[in-house]
Parts: sequence; structure tokens; C-alpha cells
Amino acid sequence: MRTAATPEELRREIAALPSPLVLVPTMGALHQGHLDLMHRAREIAGPQGTVAASIFVNPIQFDRAGDLAAYPQPLEQDLEKCRAAGVDLVFTPAADRMYFPDRSITIIENLLSRHLCGATRPGHFDGVCTVVMKLFNLFRPDAAVFGEKDYQQLAIICRMVRDLDVPVEIVGYPTVREPDGLAMSSRNARLAPDHRADAPRIRRALEGARSLLPLGERSAVPFLAAARKHLEESPFLKVDYLELVDAETLQPVARIQKPAVLATAAFYGEVRLIDNILLLP
Ligand code: PAJ
Repeated sequence: MRTAATPEELRREIAALPSPLVLVPTMGALHQGHLDLMHRAREIAGPQGTVAASIFVNPIQFDRAGDLAAYPQPLEQDLEKCRAAGVDLVFTPAADRMYFPDRSITIIENLLSRHLCGATRPGHFDGVCTVVMKLFNLFRPDAAVFGEKDYQQLAIICRMVRDLDVPVEIVGYPTVREPDGLAMSSRNARLAPDHRADAPRIRRALEGARSLLPLGERSAVPFLAAARKHLEESPFLKVDYLELVDAETLQPVARIQKPAVLATAAFYGEVRLIDNILLLP
């Protein structure tokens, strides 16, 4: 496995690697969810192609300084996991090699980031779009794989690629879960034991709401009420948001007439977890 720590090194490495190149952008602290994305990238690239990953804790997408400071960075273990997953090239830039001190251009998303995580994390998706666009320009990948766990992020990146004519195919990958249903996240390790034991209720709340679909329910209110009731029965959890939105535009819907997404973010103490479920009419 090759590694590159600067954009210059990355360009050199990429020039020597066979196409197609499939990229998996990450912030490290890798878990099975990330590794499944890398395996999917290998399926797309084929045995002769190149699977590349980036590990970069992107400072401009953090809206809470404490969250950035607490973000785990086990680089050596991460590199070992990439190697074991068959990744060919890993890019691990320092922040000062990614951003000029006087940088003045940012990508701004104006519609899909109004709700869900975007509503409570101002500037977050502008930071995500900006770094992902930089990674696309640095790697020039044929395809890039993103998880559906971060549904809003995936939808916004698809929109960015559409709106800015970025020549890359975006591939979504289903959420990888712990055996008890909790979506895998590097933040799960920060949960107190009683919070960790309670956290699978997030998934159960969304699934419980989805079970209204086969009963013929289509109005948003009962879906939101059912999920909220289950979430608020927890003695620990604080709902950040719970919304039912159109799966493509991410605008709230009053009825499920097209594919919709029921998405939530919840705090256990300082730890914020997200999950979502697709609802098909
Ligand atoms: P990070 O949170 O490290 O996630 C990297 C990729 O892994 C994202 O596409 C995310 O959706 C996916 N992922 C995380 N947990 C997953 C799970 N349980 N199942 C499936 N996929 C999962 O998302 C980011 O980093 C950053 O915002 C990034 C895109 C790298 C830009 O900085």
C-alpha cells in the first residue's frame, strides 16, 4: 500500500497507478462501515484498478471546537486497516497542507442543507462540499463511495456533482450496523455504558415508524409522532431533530407520495448520533 502526505506526493503516486480509480473519503477512526465502503470500492475498481482512501479530519466542517478536539486519530491502526482491506493508496494530509492560511473560496450549498443536520450545524455542509471537491480535484477519481448513514451528506454531494458538472460517479452504500442495530460510528466508542445500551432505540424508533407504511398510513404526523415517542421514552437521549423529508430535495413533506427519509439526530450527553430510514410510498 502506498501513502501520500502532501498534494504533491499524491499527484506523483496517482500518476503511477492504474485506472479506474475509486475513492473512499474518510476522517479516519475507521470501523467496519468504512471498511465495507472500501470493499465496495474494490468491486467497482476491479482487481486491476485502484482503490484510494483519504484520512483527513477536516477542520472546516466542525461547528463545535470540542467535537474537533475530541475526534480520535489512531493513524497507525487506520493505515493497518486500510492495508488489510486491500486499499492501494492512502492520502493523509496535515491541515496546513490542505488549506492555505488565506484561503478565500468555499463551496456553499443553499437548499439541501436547510434541514436535518444542516439546520443545527451551520456551515457544516459547506465545509464538507469544499473538502470533497478538493479531494475530487486532487484524486480525479472515476467513482467515489459514500455511506447512506450520512444521508444528507450523500444527497448534497450528488447535488454538487450535478450542479458543478464534476466528472465522477457517486456510489451510495447502505448503513453498516452493530448486531443490535446501532449504526456504526466512530462516536459510539465515546458513549457511556448505559447510553450505549440504550442507543439501539434510535434504529428501533425509525423502524417502528416505518411499520405504519404497510398499514396504509401516508401522512407525516403519525410517523413523526411514533418515532418521537419511542425516542423520548429514553431516560438519557435528547432529540436534536426528527424530520420527514423528500429523499431527493431533503425538504419536509406532509405526506409520503415519493420516496422519503425519516432522519434523526440525538444526543447522549455530548455524543451526537444520527440515523435515517427510507420510506417508500
Ligand atoms: P466519516 O464520518 O469518516 O465517514 C466516511 C464515510 O464513511 C462517509 O461516506 C460515511 O457516510 C461512511 N460511513 C460512516 N459510518 C458508516 C456506516 N455505519 N455505514 C456505512 N457508511 C458509513 O463523512 C465523513 O467522514 C466526512 O464528512 C468526509 C466525507 C470524509 C468529508 O470530510
